Amino acid sequence: MQTSQDGTGRFYITTPIYYMNALPHLGHAYTTVLCDVMARYHRLWGDDTYFLTGSDEHGEKIAQAALASGESPQAFVDRISLAFRETWTKLGISNDDFIRTTEPRHQAVVQRILQEIYDRGDIYFGSYGGQYCLGCERFLAERELVDGRCPDHGTEPAYIEEKNYFFRMSKYQDWLIAYLNEHPDAVQPEQYRGEVLSFLRSPLEDLCISRPKSRLTWGIPLPFDDNYVTYVWFDALINYISALGYPDGELYQRYWPAAYHVTAKDILKPHAIYWPTMLKAAGIPVYRGLRVHGYWGVDQAKMSKSRGNVVRPLDLSDKYGVDAFRYFLIREMTFGQDASFSEEAFVMRYNAELANDLGNLLNRTLHMIGRYCDGRIPSPGDEQTEERRTFIERVLSTPAQVRQAISDWNPQGAVLATLELVRAANLYLELRAPWTAYKRGDQAHVNATLYDVASALRWTAVLLYPVMPGKMTALWQALGQPGQPAWQDGRQWETLAPGAAIQRGEVLFPRQELVLQETAS
Ligand code: MSP
Repeated sequence: MQTSQDGTGRFYITTPIYYMNALPHLGHAYTTVLCDVMARYHRLWGDDTYFLTGSDEHGEKIAQAALASGESPQAFVDRISLAFRETWTKLGISNDDFIRTTEPRHQAVVQRILQEIYDRGDIYFGSYGGQYCLGCERFLAERELVDGRCPDHGTEPAYIEEKNYFFRMSKYQDWLIAYLNEHPDAVQPEQYRGEVLSFLRSPLEDLCISRPKSRLTWGIPLPFDDNYVTYVWFDALINYISALGYPDGELYQRYWPAAYHVTAKDILKPHAIYWPTMLKAAGIPVYRGLRVHGYWGVDQAKMSKSRGNVVRPLDLSDKYGVDAFRYFLIREMTFGQDASFSEEAFVMRYNAELANDLGNLLNRTLHMIGRYCDGRIPSPGDEQTEERRTFIERVLSTPAQVRQAISDWNPQGAVLATLELVRAANLYLELRAPWTAYKRGDQAHVNATLYDVASALRWTAVLLYPVMPGKMTALWQALGQPGQPAWQDGRQWETLAPGAAIQRGEVLFPRQELVLQETAS
């Protein structure tokens, strides 16, 4: 089996670098947890993996937010960026690096690429007037407006006219269309690829890539004109290679060919149109893949400050545990589609799937191994019945299903395949009723059954480890396994060594009651 999606055994995954104008919410947490889960799956099966996240710290929106809170832009972004990093630590995010666009290592690469494209003649000076949406930090084409407003922010854009530098993006339109047609995997899921191609059916305009310092100073100066700073998207997108030490860095050579960017649909255009054309103009190969997910709403509504329904990830992870929160995010959203968050749904899933299906299976199994097998994993014996063969087949086919789901960018499918295994193990216990076999003195039947179920639980610990690293390590150790869950290739059944002493500790997933508190917005 090949070890990664590109067959090189390497996997580089990035989150968007979030705007440092407000604290992290559920949407940021989702993308970051999702990338963490993907990175951890790839590491699990031995891929050479690199995971990047970071903060987007320049631009008008941030300068305004700093002003509003009475801080200097630098002090403001230092504070917010730290809050993001602290949140990621608490959510168990295993990023290898965190890039900030105010760092010199980033600014140097942005200036180098600007100069390179300028020298090649694809940046020119001109005048432009257009509808500018501050929320998007970009000019919107007339055809993008709905009733004169930005469809994403619901605000009226401001008409701005000034002299600026432009990137000759239009020159790359035909090339980009051909590229996307020849590389159907470059932008996925299909619906988003379709959106990009349909947008490209109309003429592409050149991209305004500067802001006069008279209007905005909080940005990276253009290397060829000190009166201007770089437009925030031109600055931000470059983080994906500046963090790797482009152009000479060892990390760049090693990971750029295996790059996957993950974003929500709101920033499809910058990632699927600006970024590849920028790369092309600078003579840099295009990323391997852009993977686009949907939007979280809250109780069927859009999450927004003005509605006062912004969900803070740490509130939930403090209340229900970080692993349960990660589980819910991955389990609930179908990659590519929108989802709705509600605490009721969260608690319902938690109780049904984690406390009942998985938690009870573990409790019962540990209890019976304690009682019927002296607290040690029994030996599997050599019973060859049909029902047993079917169950073992089931257990052994699950790792491949999970791996396929991850390679298809379907982490929800990976979780559901494992959950199905847990349910099958519960049914198997009912069917085999080791408690009655014990009463009639059939120890071989008891041993075979409990061994099989413990093996299913062992695989569950491995397969859900990327989603719930803490809880699955606890599950693994409860089964008397040393260290942390580890992947084992092959289809051999006896990966669980008999004789290991089980460890009965705290209940893995105690049932939760739904207690809704009024939260201050
Ligand atoms: N700074 C730019 C990105 C530059 S990347 C080179 C930006 N920042 S952002 O803070 O607005 O983050 C947008 C991203 O946050 C989305 O693409 C998505 O990853 C995440 N989400 C923000 N709100 C979200 C939802 N309601 N639902 C799902 N994801 C959301 O754009």
